Amino acid sequence: MSFLLALDQGTTSSRAIVFDARCHIVAVAQRELPQIYPQPGWVEHDPMEIWSGQLATVYEVLAKAGLAAQDIAAIGITNQRETTVLWERSTGRPLCNAIVWQDRRTAALCTQLREAGHEAAFRERTGLILDPYFSGTKLRWLLDSIPGAQARAEAGELAFGTVDSWLVWQLTGGRLHVSDVTNASRTLLYNIHTSAWDEELLTRLRIPRALLPEVCNSSELIGETDAAVFGAPIRIAGIAGDQQAALFGQSCVASGMAKNTYGTGCFALSHTGGVACSSNNGLITTRAAQLQGADASYALEGSVFVGGAVVQWLRDGLGVIRSAAEIEALASLVPDAAGVSFIPAFAGLGAPYWNPEARAAIVGLTRGSSVAHIARAALEAIAFQSAELIEAMQADSAQLLGELRVDGGASANNLLMQMQADLLGVPVVRPVVQETTALGAACLAGLAVGLWRGADELATLWQRERVFEPLMSRDEAQRRLGDWRAAVQRVM
Ligand code: G3P
Repeated sequence: MSFLLALDQGTTSSRAIVFDARCHIVAVAQRELPQIYPQPGWVEHDPMEIWSGQLATVYEVLAKAGLAAQDIAAIGITNQRETTVLWERSTGRPLCNAIVWQDRRTAALCTQLREAGHEAAFRERTGLILDPYFSGTKLRWLLDSIPGAQARAEAGELAFGTVDSWLVWQLTGGRLHVSDVTNASRTLLYNIHTSAWDEELLTRLRIPRALLPEVCNSSELIGETDAAVFGAPIRIAGIAGDQQAALFGQSCVASGMAKNTYGTGCFALSHTGGVACSSNNGLITTRAAQLQGADASYALEGSVFVGGAVVQWLRDGLGVIRSAAEIEALASLVPDAAGVSFIPAFAGLGAPYWNPEARAAIVGLTRGSSVAHIARAALEAIAFQSAELIEAMQADSAQLLGELRVDGGASANNLLMQMQADLLGVPVVRPVVQETTALGAACLAGLAVGLWRGADELATLWQRERVFEPLMSRDEAQRRLGDWRAAVQRVM
């Protein structure tokens, strides 16, 4: 019983990873998750596909690892956050597709709430801004759009959950309706200071209390899977939203430690200890993974909507590379972008700009510009956007970063990582295990079932693979960031 099973339910795929007690990967399984785009700006997932795809990965990973349910010490769940599922308690049947975090359908509702003067209350209590990104307005939209849903919700017939809740409900045969602190803190309904659903905000959004899951720690013995699911019960002992799980998996557990995940988007989180630091620079305040018996801890978070996705666009939209890995060689053909800036605002701009109307542009082209310059500018855009988040974090928390820990698919790109170190002026550190999201979930579960003596022992298992030291002068880095900011203004 010394293996841990992480379920990593992400936006585009579901994965299951088995780790051993030294945090080494034993086996991985993955299934793509179909995306549903009913209208421009809308993004949905079928909750039954989320569940069946995730379940299939567990069967596959156990078979690959040659393990049975009895060999697993505990399950840790990590998930795409904010995505909103609504189901019927009596049957477990979803009422509709899940509304995905990227979905913009509640933009008008957010504007209405802002204009009605509600923003300050939401911001103070939840650490979030009024943006369609978060679950609360998505849930309001569902209750307004499905005939009879509000009355049924008030009568206690329905359940709301983010994807963690939905998976636990399924895994336990409908016995548990829970969510952890990190996921709850993305709903616009949870008070991050009092650690409770906020009655005042529920009233402002007219969300019935009966809909909501019980909130648990990120690391605690939450329950057991129904024996029928895997042939024998497995303990569920960890839950965290994917970015907070990655923060934990990077062993960023003390104030001032930060990580950046380079996926489709980029998500930078900086741990701020027991202080819920509010931002003057367009970041949000969120809860970090909650260990049992520990004080509440917080993080500042900034997200870039298009990070690695800019490379996909060069591949699929422009067709200048055949695989994402080719971009490093192409961008290395030139020493710099020669004045070309690529602002990948395909889906508006996230922190610190929060401009949903902005659109992408490539500016500064001359007759001498080549596809290599564009490729380099695309990589630089990922690094510039992330650098702006990290700068904002340092300004908000008045703390200087010692190093930035990195993970996610694009962190494999050495040129990009060097650019990042140069722009930030601090070492960029890539760990041996780059599956930090799944690792974080597994570690949260392992801690709860006593696989290690405590978080300190766990921290000794985290190891560096490569460190990128900054090579650029600070003057040059500031000049380049200034040019980038000027370029961004052209799409605002
Ligand atoms: O907040 C959204 C985030 O949790 C999604 O992460 O990795 O599934 O794109 P990912």
